[in-house]
Amino acid sequence: AMVEKGAYRHFMEKEIHEQPDSVQHTLSHYLDLVTGRAKVQTLEAGAIDFARIDRIQIVACGTAFYAGQIGRYAFERIAGLPCDVEIASEFRYRSPAVTPGTLAVAVSQSGETADTLASLTWCKGQGLKTAAVVNVHSSSMAREADVLWPTHAGPEIGVASTKAFTAQVAALLALAVAAGVARGRIDGQSEGELVKALFEAPRLIAEALQMDADIRAVAHDLSKATDVLFLGRGAMFPLAMEGALKLKEISYIHAEGYAAGELKHGPIALIDEETPTIALAPLDDVFEKTASNLQEVAARGGPVIMIAPRTAPDPHGAGIRRIHAPDCHPLIAPLVYAVPVQLLAYYTAVQKGTDVDQPRNLAKSVTVE
Ligand code: G6P
Repeated sequence: AMVEKGAYRHFMEKEIHEQPDSVQHTLSHYLDLVTGRAKVQTLEAGAIDFARIDRIQIVACGTAFYAGQIGRYAFERIAGLPCDVEIASEFRYRSPAVTPGTLAVAVSQSGETADTLASLTWCKGQGLKTAAVVNVHSSSMAREADVLWPTHAGPEIGVASTKAFTAQVAALLALAVAAGVARGRIDGQSEGELVKALFEAPRLIAEALQMDADIRAVAHDLSKATDVLFLGRGAMFPLAMEGALKLKEISYIHAEGYAAGELKHGPIALIDEETPTIALAPLDDVFEKTASNLQEVAARGGPVIMIAPRTAPDPHGAGIRRIHAPDCHPLIAPLVYAVPVQLLAYYTAVQKGTDVDQPRNLAKSVTVE
């Protein structure tokens, strides 16, 4: 069926607004809220037993690569499962040393990206168990992998991925909880808490969409910048890279995503009055660390926009502009903070008048090398 934009100006805008639903649908595939049980619903013969694997190797390209990195933090923290994430175009050509107990996971919206598919096929050839987190359930990767872990974002038309990304993150977070249960790393009570926290995401994503007016104001300023820095720690680090990628893709403004703690090892040299820093700062166990990095930027005259909950303390020192994000459990922060990151890129591009849904030189799916 033809997908229409409806009242929205661009598919990207429509897809950003669909995220409460697409995340809800995706979570519901993996988790059961009624009983508070985290369980993988696709336990057919040959499905993955998380208790019997000792490593995960995620391969992906572009936005899916950042979703994979967010998944990694959860697999290691919640399930104690070592997890590597690599860009498929590197993985496939460097003769990686994989071990037999490794589960290879391809993450892809289309399920057709050439490098990701080749990496998946290579892993299978090495005798590894394979899974595919894909949005197109009839795709090559869906067929190739031993196990299909679907995302339920629905068709994504905008070239710059939005709802497929949050659906990938939602699926990986849910799988990490399922892995934690299977591996005996979390008890029934924490399991119930994490499942409830995940199911809060759709409502909090809807709340984050209300940040619209604040984000528009920031985007107005960003549209004049030539370089933008995104900072974050923990799962906000890959989200910072995703934020930089989104901005590059559709507004053609040069942007970099950096781990806030790495600032002093290079990017701080870029800071001047003309270079805005966007900080993703949920109230988690590293908030104070991030806040002190922002003081360092502000002290050097760099404009800082801190996206943080209202309840977060003000970093000392002047000149830090704040945008309030919803309060949320740290586990779902990458889902909630994805919204301001996407809206920032979107409104900056609209301000600049670029072709948001069809950015220059980019393809929705790269099926040739
Ligand atoms: C292209 C798209 C990106 C996407 C990447 C991976 O570069 O423009 O938005 O993240 O491919 O695509 P996949 O379908 O494998 O997720």
